[in-house]
Amino acid sequence: MTTTASLEFDHVELLIGSVESAADANAKAVRNTVLSPRFYTTDFKAMDRLNIESVRTEWDVMMKEYEGDNNHDHFQRDAQFAEEVKTLMPQLSPEMRQEFLDFLISSLTSEFSGCILYNEIRKNIDNPDIKQLMTYMARDESRHAGFINQSLKDFDLGIDLGQLKRTKAYTFFKPKYIFYATYLSEKIGYARYITIFRQLERHPDKRFHPIFRWFERWCNDEFRHGESFALIMRSQPELLRGVNLWWIRFFILAVYATMYVRDHTRPLLHEAMGFKSTEYDYEVFRITSEIARQVFPVEVDIDHPTFRACMERLVELSIANAKAKERGGVLGLIGQASSALAAVWTFGRLYFLPVKRNNLPAQVRVQPAW
Ligand SMILES: [Fe+2]
Ligand SMILES: [Fe+2]
Repeated sequence: MTTTASLEFDHVELLIGSVESAADANAKAVRNTVLSPRFYTTDFKAMDRLNIESVRTEWDVMMKEYEGDNNHDHFQRDAQFAEEVKTLMPQLSPEMRQEFLDFLISSLTSEFSGCILYNEIRKNIDNPDIKQLMTYMARDESRHAGFINQSLKDFDLGIDLGQLKRTKAYTFFKPKYIFYATYLSEKIGYARYITIFRQLERHPDKRFHPIFRWFERWCNDEFRHGESFALIMRSQPELLRGVNLWWIRFFILAVYATMYVRDHTRPLLHEAMGFKSTEYDYEVFRITSEIARQVFPVEVDIDHPTFRACMERLVELSIANAKAKERGGVLGLIGQASSALAAVWTFGRLYFLPVKRNNLPAQVRVQPAW
């Protein structure tokens, strides 16, 4: 079995496919796979009933920050941006170009997913606190998605966002699952962007695209979005105890495992930044787990040898699954079924590993100090 440290390009290609035209790029954004970002919808009536009074003081401070909008002028390209695109992009190898495009398309889909969800909630509720929050977050995510799309347009691979909104399938999640999943994806988004930004700050020669210079101020938006869900969950303490602790474990592991497998399909991208995918992901896990102590009473043990072995195993199984799919026929189907079963078993092992317990702090909010 191939180890992830030496994931070969034919495996990468099997897992991410290749993008040669705008039609390919749009098809990739629409497609739902186990690894691709999804679009969500929820129970708007339940969202409308949320009461955040118990966290009012911290909530109001946060709302002032949104109102101040310190990133209002950030998502604009300067002359140097165009210059760097022109000189740097032709230097990418075809393999590296595919991994970078995959990164841009999945990041855009995930930014736009937030934009749609927050906007739909805003339109369908009257609760003034939640409505105002959703307005601000949709504003930020639409800037983020638009900014990434400009970089795809440099390759003539712009995504038609209106079309994507109409054609991609939506997954329904009850509000509490939206809170767990979205909190995690916002904080992971912060951790991913800041880890890349810090690395390239130390090694500017490895900054192969100008978009990474935007990541520092950008990730502060994601951090604040995460803070908003932390406050909502802390204002509904029943979401953070009893059987819900098992749901929290499930979501942490599902989000971590998906990110780990997906990132291991982009070894060249991380190598270009001077990372190994594994090393990058554990830094992101470490930061996210530290931040999540503000809200989750349980924390998965990312240094447990079984945790590490299971994450590796999931990468191997997703390669085996993609190979079986390519082979086709009865043998291919058997191969796909057996790798899927093994993945469920591996996820089960992760799920029943011992967790660490946290006492939640009286003050919920933390500063983006990574
Ligand atoms: Fe965003
Ligand atoms: Fe966000």
